[in-house]
Amino acid sequence: MRLELLIAVLLSLLAASEGIRVVEVVVPAVVTAGQAVVLECRYEEEGDKLYTLKWWRGDDQFYQLVPPKRSYYHASGVSVNMSATEHLNPYGSKGLERVMLEPVSLDAAGVYKCEVMADQTFHTVSQQANMTVVYVPDGLPAMYGMEEALQVRSGQRVLLNCSTPPASPPPVITWLVNGKRAPTDWSVSYAPQLRGAGSPPVRVSSTLDFYIPPGLLGGDGLHVDCVARQTLSGYHQTTSVVLPQERLAFSWLFSSGRGSAALLPCAALLVACAVAAVLLRLDSAPVIAGAPAAKY
Ligand SMILES: *[C@@H]1O[C@H](CO)[C@@H](O)[C@H](O)[C@H]1NC(C)=O
Ligand SMILES: *[C@@H]1O[C@H](CO)[C@@H](O)[C@H](O)[C@H]1NC(C)=O
Ligand SMILES: *[C@@H]1O[C@H](CO)[C@@H](O)[C@H](O)[C@H]1NC(C)=O
Repeated sequence: MRLELLIAVLLSLLAASEGIRVVEVVVPAVVTAGQAVVLECRYEEEGDKLYTLKWWRGDDQFYQLVPPKRSYYHASGVSVNMSATEHLNPYGSKGLERVMLEPVSLDAAGVYKCEVMADQTFHTVSQQANMTVVYVPDGLPAMYGMEEALQVRSGQRVLLNCSTPPASPPPVITWLVNGKRAPTDWSVSYAPQLRGAGSPPVRVSSTLDFYIPPGLLGGDGLHVDCVARQTLSGYHQTTSVVLPQERLAFSWLFSSGRGSAALLPCAALLVACAVAAVLLRLDSAPVIAGAPAAKY
């Protein structure tokens, strides 16, 4: 019993001698570029008073509180809105310093650390958390190339491009054909995809290029979706096109698509035959019909 008491006393002395601790840092894990960011550092005085509270991004200190005086320093991509920065409960043993950053750029990403130092013991403790900045695509992916294949039939080549608005990190494009994910060898992405978070915004493009396999065409043709996703921001947008199936011989003749190219000689032949028939008829009409020449 005595021993336990002794241990408890020793432990509390040990805790008191630590002076101060960081209870929690609140740093948003993912923010969008152009957004103001609130950082929080919660500390607890344990027998000693707060001497300083500092915020660091990586190796750069950008903020300091030496109660009641505050200062800020330049760090790339990070600037503090001093008028929105506040200290809650400054006289209690549990304090909270809330720092507001002005709207951040992609450069603001990194490891954020709050460090507190005790007044008497200079005991220093810190906690840190990562912040990622994303540039969210502003709008839908754009699809190009439908003009070349307005109407389609089995065996025909389909060639479509899709491209996202600028974004960081780069979105990923996937294609759906009649609602099913297109086989990987049907598309190629022009992807600066190797670059990760914090890199400058880029457009990602993808080309879908395949020959329509037998049995794929549904009743109303070919539905193609270009799906762009940026996982970090939750961006998920689809642009769709429906390429109608060729139906009438008539439309084959007059459509200008690739698919009808083979039919053009045939059409020409038909027209030639029709013209020949008319000419022949004109020629022979008086003989066969025995009609008066005056009629012509
Ligand atoms: C700084 O914070 C104040 C108070 O919240 C706000 O009115 C002001 O617009 C902010 N300034 C910037 C540049 O964000
Ligand atoms: C922060 O991100 C780096 C990689 O960028 C990772 O190694 C590290 O563990 C992360 N730290 C925290 C506190 O999440
Ligand atoms: C589709 O993308 C490829 C590769 O970038 C390009 O060569 C082609 O001209 C594009 N086609 C259209 C219709 O935009």
